[in-house]
Amino acid sequence: MKVGVMQGSLKEFDLAEVLQVVGIGRQYTGIELRLSNGVVGTIFVKSGQVVSATANDTAGPNAFFNLFQAADGRFFVFRTETPPDLPEPLGPLHRMLMEVPPPGPRKSEPVQPAVAPLYAYEERELPTQAGVVSPPPNASPSMHSIGASALKAQPASVRQPPVVAAPPHGPDTRIIGIVSPKGGSGKSTISLNLSLSMARRGHSVVLIDTDVNGDILSAINARSRANIGSLDIVYNDAPLDQALLDTVMPKFKILPAVGSKLPDPELMATEQKDRWRKLLHDVSKRADIVLVDTPAGMFGHTRTVCQGCTHVLGVLQAEVIAARSFARFAEALQLLRDNERPKVLGVVLNMLQTRHHASLSVFQEAMQDLPQEWLFDTTIPRHPAFLDSTHQGLPLRHLDDDVPPPVAFLFDNLAAEVAQRLSLQIPALRARPFLL
Ligand SMILES: Nc1ncnc2c1ncn2[C@@H]1O[C@H](COP(=O)(O)OP(=O)(O)OP(=O)(O)O)[C@@H](O)[C@H]1O
Ligand SMILES: [Mg+2]
Repeated sequence: MKVGVMQGSLKEFDLAEVLQVVGIGRQYTGIELRLSNGVVGTIFVKSGQVVSATANDTAGPNAFFNLFQAADGRFFVFRTETPPDLPEPLGPLHRMLMEVPPPGPRKSEPVQPAVAPLYAYEERELPTQAGVVSPPPNASPSMHSIGASALKAQPASVRQPPVVAAPPHGPDTRIIGIVSPKGGSGKSTISLNLSLSMARRGHSVVLIDTDVNGDILSAINARSRANIGSLDIVYNDAPLDQALLDTVMPKFKILPAVGSKLPDPELMATEQKDRWRKLLHDVSKRADIVLVDTPAGMFGHTRTVCQGCTHVLGVLQAEVIAARSFARFAEALQLLRDNERPKVLGVVLNMLQTRHHASLSVFQEAMQDLPQEWLFDTTIPRHPAFLDSTHQGLPLRHLDDDVPPPVAFLFDNLAAEVAQRLSLQIPALRARPFLL
């Protein structure tokens, strides 16, 4: 059985990019191609290897390279059952891609501003299997409060909000902190687009923004819509109900970081671990899954927020500094107390640049060095559609009603992986009449 994963035009998403983002999957994946030069072919990949390639009547490495000859055409990616006898692979995907001649200049197509539609629920097959893994439990107990102790230092004059009891999370609570040791790696972008895809699957989702810098409402050009945000609730006891913003997706709400005015900065510098945990807990009662966008880095405010999360999803930018600092991801988690340490839901590689050796090497090192279960099969390439998305203030999927950019589909894949790792059941479909 073929399960469609994504499809699109090679003008927007070239073949190397398609292969790079689907090629690491542990499932048997095919890419069917209909090129503008009349060539029709299929490439199969699995676990970073090119398993086979056909182009019209040819097969093998030449067929693989022939499929790069046209810059235009359509692709269709599908997953299918792994056959009992796989052929001898043609070679590692990254090596074969490096032998492909670079493409000619691409035509950029202007993206029309779109009115964000209400999307119907659409069932997609889950693409991966993987368990939720905790970091190795060898934290040094004497070090667990290093980050927090610095934050606790505060002038006596700061008015502290009343103390609240930090409620324990139940076994079905799913609060996912989106984190990365390095700033600008794509946490907010992934939080927004992943939340949308989770809601499209039928799960109720609240995205909580906890970062006042480069916040989610700025990304969707709606800063003026917020009167109250998560920080007002934590530091000023503002009411949660009045802070939640509806989106065009009935199952997707956003809790912004702040309203029109920032809370007192001295107050914001105080650690309010229990109040953050209570807010996250209260929000989790209203949704199947809560995603929490956090500030850059693993310490400070991010650390406080993470202590209230049940899971974390790490974002690794496919770039050298990000890779070198990614060790902080596991280290920071180990420095948390056992009962406050979220589980690692997974790590997603973002901004992969298939034509750059340095970017590919981050991907290869991540495959080698991270615990195997951490890395999601879905990898997000660096793509200009993200620029359009921010420019238009819309999630990727809403950029174009008829033909969303292919990279938007990757978030559906990521959502499927997340749902599977969290054992989130797809809610039963409500019967709906078609005729009015
Ligand atoms: N895959 C991608 N391809 C191209 N641009 C991207 C991609 N992912 C994110 N970006 C862009 O990179 C910039 C930083 O992304 P984003 O704000 O999501 O990062 P962040 O980790 O939340 O940053 P911060 O640490 O400041 O909170 C944004 O302009 C965003 O549009
Ligand atoms: Mg951000």
